[in-house]
Amino acid sequence: MPFPREQLESASNEKLCKSETIKLRNKHIGQACQLFYRSDPLKIVRGQGQYMFDEQGTCYLDCINNVAHVGHCHPKVVRAGCLQMATISTNNRFLHDELVQCAKTLTSKMPAPLSVCFFVNSGSEANDLALRLARNYTKRQDIITLDHGYHGHLTSVMEISPYKFNQPGGDPKPDYVHVAPCPDIYGGKFKDRDYPNEDMAEIYTQPIREICEQVKAQGKGLAAFIAESLLSCGGQVIPPEGYLKAAFETVRAAGGVCIADEVQVGFGRVGTHYWAFETQDVVPDIVSVAKPMGNGHPVGAVITTPEIAEAFYNTGVAYFNTYGGNPVSCAIANAVMRVIEEEGLQENARSVGEYLLQQCRELKYEFDIIGDVRGLGLFVGLELVKNRETREPDTNAAHWVVNRMKQIHKILVSSDGPNGNVIKLKPPMVFSQKNADEFLLAFRECISFLEKQRNGDQLPAYNAADSSSATTTTESMASKAQIFEHQDRLIKSV
Ligand SMILES: Cc1ncc(COP(=O)(O)O)c(C=O)c1O
Repeated sequence: MPFPREQLESASNEKLCKSETIKLRNKHIGQACQLFYRSDPLKIVRGQGQYMFDEQGTCYLDCINNVAHVGHCHPKVVRAGCLQMATISTNNRFLHDELVQCAKTLTSKMPAPLSVCFFVNSGSEANDLALRLARNYTKRQDIITLDHGYHGHLTSVMEISPYKFNQPGGDPKPDYVHVAPCPDIYGGKFKDRDYPNEDMAEIYTQPIREICEQVKAQGKGLAAFIAESLLSCGGQVIPPEGYLKAAFETVRAAGGVCIADEVQVGFGRVGTHYWAFETQDVVPDIVSVAKPMGNGHPVGAVITTPEIAEAFYNTGVAYFNTYGGNPVSCAIANAVMRVIEEEGLQENARSVGEYLLQQCRELKYEFDIIGDVRGLGLFVGLELVKNRETREPDTNAAHWVVNRMKQIHKILVSSDGPNGNVIKLKPPMVFSQKNADEFLLAFRECISFLEKQRNGDQLPAYNAADSSSATTTTESMASKAQIFEHQDRLIKSV
């Protein structure tokens, strides 16, 4: 059953005009809910591959959505979900092949002894369950987390998310949570330039050692260390080589277990490996996965060792999750993992990521505003600074770039990190070299303006009214026919 192409080209679920949508959102949706580009929000009605379309049919190159991992609305994923939904969707207290096949494939990608899965609906749920497993196994409560880390929105995981609790209105950190410095050697607590020829992994592990000693001295016990294998909200941070290895050894020596949060960075994004923790040559005790696993559909999992899973079973309290592991979610996750293989998307992330990083490094030689370029595969960060020597963050510049990229170039990027000055790129894995060139061309235009401004020129407005300088780049974007080329190939192969 081929997915109808006409539907892909013309589909739009728009039922209201944009102003009405905004009005209803303001009235009925909590103002605390985040909205991209709040002063001029985007109404996205359709997606294909690495592109999203607004209600007027404007095509945006998506460099933000690591959730749409194998491309927006991938026909094979959509079809797998539709078929399963039309067949049966029930809970995992019944036997179902999609569930066990999903567990088999997931664990086949993991190093031993990570062979047991629990299915959940989101990254927050995955990390919440990871904490329960760790605390139950160790019979301890204390957790070490990394500064600027984010692990989800549930109460339990907000407690271990400095990215949130350190905000002015955030809830105070509980005593059983300990924050170690984010291993950011460029802008973090310990900067490589201040420790020439020293082992930065060791420097960043020392505070973990000190926390372990403090916990012991207070007569408490360490349950777990949780870290994103690469830190996304922390500003696209790549820990120094050997960091996770040293951290895991320290934590295990103190009786704790190690949780790798792969919610953002798993499923081949780093290019060289399927999981980002593998780039640090470690084997966690518990791994949480979500976002890319469902390509937009809510599904997640916790993968752990038989020993930790057995200790959980031995509590006598059965685990039940109404939707976690339902056949539709599992059919979708299975399709996502199949597509990653069939289309060589991990290899695409490696080669396109390498090209993108290389080109960004070239830009860095040309433009002083780029303080640092870092990344692995299609997980890239560009840190904008006011001064190369002091590494002082340029938050306003990053904000301006994000808005100009959207308004003028129709390219969606975001900024993050403790100072909001890191341009984040984590596009769908179908991102091509041509897309990388589109990004580079537009980004160059933006930072050229910023450099001119430093020499006294006025910055142009980034709002839509100022589209005079947009023509060249917009015209150089892929034509609609090219945009559909990739999907065409996929549709034919379904
Ligand atoms: C690293 C990380 N862990 C966990 C979560 C929470 O995932 P979810 O929003 O699916 O609950 C997020 C979400 O952004 C995340 O970035």
